[in-house]
Amino acid sequence: MKLLFGLLSPAMEKSGFACGEAALDTYLQKLASQDMKRGFATVIVARTETDPKKIIGYYTLSAASVLLDNVPEEMARNMPRYPNIPAVRLGRLAVASGMQGQHIGSLLVLDALRRSCLNELAWALFLVDAKNERVAAFYEKFLFQRFADNTLHLWMHRKQAENLITQIPA
Ligand SMILES: CC(C)(COP(=O)(O)OP(=O)(O)OC[C@H]1O[C@@H](n2cnc3c(N)ncnc32)[C@H](O)[C@@H]1OP(=O)(O)O)[C@@H](O)C(=O)NCCC(=O)NCCS
Repeated sequence: MKLLFGLLSPAMEKSGFACGEAALDTYLQKLASQDMKRGFATVIVARTETDPKKIIGYYTLSAASVLLDNVPEEMARNMPRYPNIPAVRLGRLAVASGMQGQHIGSLLVLDALRRSCLNELAWALFLVDAKNERVAAFYEKFLFQRFADNTLHLWMHRKQAENLITQIPA
């Protein structure tokens, strides 16, 4: 199954998307396009080559920042003393129910890392939010690490992301 990844566009079918989490379905159907227009999120969708109108998964990316005080001391030691660390946040991630467990979610995460690394925007940390422990465990497979003060928020250093995408070609 050849997958296509690209920006959400009006010609695509959003209405039938269902991932098992109503909030993530509603977001794609009602808010995603608005967020793109207003500069609050970039929405990237996955489709198959055989049915390119149908969305089978999506994620969102936004600029973010993390307080220097909130990162582990060993990492902060190697960073400039600015109060905030520039970051990218993968805020939402969803795969259509019938397509889950086929590594599409993993490919979406890798696509997000790849796009973020190839973009000229400067960032040092890649952030992900997990809604529960099972999703946090899914992110740990990529070696994301948990913040000590909120273990459902995880981070990866830019260098790690760059290494990961060179090991796994597109
Ligand atoms: C979470 C989600 C995006 C994962 O996508 P997916 O395509 O099903 O995941 P993958 O097939 O890439 O899974 C990769 C690995 O993570 C595991 N995994 C998949 N979904 C998982 C989940 N919800 N929790 C924990 N582990 C999970 C798989 O077992 C797989 O392990 P393996 O590589 O050892 O076989 C998808 O299940 C989903 O959309 N769920 C509903 C919405 C949701 O919870 N989104 C996250 C919001 S924070």
